[in-house]
Amino acid sequence: MSVLTSVDAERATAAVGATSVRVRPATASDVPAIFENINYWATQGKMLVRPMPSIFENLRDFFVAEINGDDGPVFAGNGALHILWGDIAEVRGLAVAPDVAARGVGRALVAACEAEARRIGIPVLFAWTYSVGFFEKCGFSLIDKTRDLHPRVWSECLRCPFFVGCNENGLIKRLEGVPMPTNLPEPPPAQVPPGIR
Ligand SMILES: CC(C)(COP(=O)(O)OP(=O)(O)OC[C@H]1O[C@@H](n2cnc3c(N)ncnc32)[C@H](O)[C@@H]1OP(=O)(O)O)[C@@H](O)C(=O)NCCC(=O)NCCS
Repeated sequence: MSVLTSVDAERATAAVGATSVRVRPATASDVPAIFENINYWATQGKMLVRPMPSIFENLRDFFVAEINGDDGPVFAGNGALHILWGDIAEVRGLAVAPDVAARGVGRALVAACEAEARRIGIPVLFAWTYSVGFFEKCGFSLIDKTRDLHPRVWSECLRCPFFVGCNENGLIKRLEGVPMPTNLPEPPPAQVPPGIR
């Protein structure tokens, strides 16, 4: 389990109205809230559904944001950093609880993912999204997904049930100060499933 250093945690903490948001690595007891939050946004057409087994299997990727409530910390959102190769990691499963929208929670979760990528030495973040403006505010830039996809992103795409007709946008962020690893082998070629050309 990765643990944010105090400096990282500070970076991943932002003002939320009169209170503040804290981001921490997810634990097993967070899974029902993460599942429900992602499912809510999936029913709004904003992201893909994620089955609960997939959340458990990838739980070490996940961060949870909390704000202070009257009786202690309250769940405010989740996001994950999924490593694809030595030079790229995907920010995925990012979902802010609807009742705390537009108060800096999303930005704090992306900051936590970025801090984790820096800690591990991954120089590029990638994201698929319908919320382009949000990611641009977080320092990401749109790419041409027909041309500029990293081979490992492309491999994941080919396994996605929404591959045909996908209208999500791809964005990347180069993390300044994190050197590109010089000893990386080539990623394996994407396995194209039958029926897809
Ligand atoms: C997109 C999402 C993560 C934003 O979270 P949030 O906590 O409301 O965003 P923040 O308050 O941290 O916003 C940070 C900045 O982005 C801007 N912003 C937020 N959502 C935006 C959007 N959809 N389009 C354009 N800008 C947006 C904010 O205005 C803010 O700008 P500012 O710093 O100049 O004030 C949240 O709306 C969400 O969970 N959406 C549904 C799921 C989703 O789209 N996930 C994305 C990846 S799949």
